[in-house]
Amino acid sequence: MNAAVTTSPVVGPPLWLLLELTYRCPLQCVFCYNPIDFAKVEDELTTEEWIRVLREARALGSVQLGLSGGEPLMRDDVEAIADEAHRLGYYTNLITSGVGLTRERLSELKRVGLDHIQLSFQDSTKEMNDFLSHTRTFELKKRCAEWIKEHGYPMVVNCVIHRLNIDHLDTIIDMAVRMGADYLELANTQYYSWAHLNREHLLPSREQLQKAEQTMQTWRERMKGKMKIFFVVPDYYEQRPKKCVNGWGTTLATIAPDGMAMPCHTARMLPGLSFPNVRARSMKEIWFDSDAFNRFRGQGWMKEPCASCEEREKDFGGCRCQAYLLAHDAAAADPVCSKSPHHRVVVSAVERAQQTRVPEAPLVFRRPENSRSYS
Ligand code: FES
Repeated sequence: MNAAVTTSPVVGPPLWLLLELTYRCPLQCVFCYNPIDFAKVEDELTTEEWIRVLREARALGSVQLGLSGGEPLMRDDVEAIADEAHRLGYYTNLITSGVGLTRERLSELKRVGLDHIQLSFQDSTKEMNDFLSHTRTFELKKRCAEWIKEHGYPMVVNCVIHRLNIDHLDTIIDMAVRMGADYLELANTQYYSWAHLNREHLLPSREQLQKAEQTMQTWRERMKGKMKIFFVVPDYYEQRPKKCVNGWGTTLATIAPDGMAMPCHTARMLPGLSFPNVRARSMKEIWFDSDAFNRFRGQGWMKEPCASCEEREKDFGGCRCQAYLLAHDAAAADPVCSKSPHHRVVVSAVERAQQTRVPEAPLVFRRPENSRSYS
């Protein structure tokens, strides 16, 4: 019999710090993970405030820094923030669509010690890339890839995979090879925020997924030792949930543009949680003492079937945001888990994805007017 767990978890440092510098973004991706109501957030931390967060988190033990958004390059202080991050000893990764990047900015980012750039593409053709992002950015991204290589960075390409582009996987990988990519991340869409709104359009069929995995394996063999390919499977097709954010409040602290601190980047929507703001509280208080960061730490909060499940240490009951979106209870087992009483919701979404039909509701692009009308 499994004993109920009541001991408080040991809290380590927030090793990963993710700064979402802005929600502004010229792209309008249909799978964007920014909150649906991002348009409400107009206030952004100043450069000095971001730098204070960097210092406080570093003192707590943060080592990996992600600079993301929106499009982080919409701000003209990314260089100053990366400069201070490097000085403090972070390993710094810029996550960008390329919009806002110039040769000059890249040289400056290199000079101040930015370690890593991840460039996103939406597909392998101009038509699909530009359709999915609702912008004419394909040619620009290709130029950015050349500049990134020119500046001696490893070429890291990311492409979010879903029903509308998964059949192009062969040409997407081929494009990355031609660009001289060192790493290619093919991340199947996870269904939060805009991707959740557009799920009926985006969830691939089982057949599409199997074909994609075969294609990816063939390329993996071919590119062994030359390019690393990461393929993240959509968790709707799994029987057990993912250990989301490595466990709530264990590793990741995300700071939203307005200073709201969260254990994951989509947690803002969870009801009944009041997220602390870095303007009012120190990173130390936020990380160790805030209710929001403590709420789903460890196992004491778990209900059945998680509370007595022998796999609870492996996945911590899955993702809190997915539990809320699919079971309307952030403390429930993630419905991806076949033991969840709500698993049927996932099964029926997967069943619908096997049909060849065009969903009735139109695709919703991530644009401010849609953000205002859907929130
Ligand atoms: Fe928020 Fe998984 S995305 S806990």
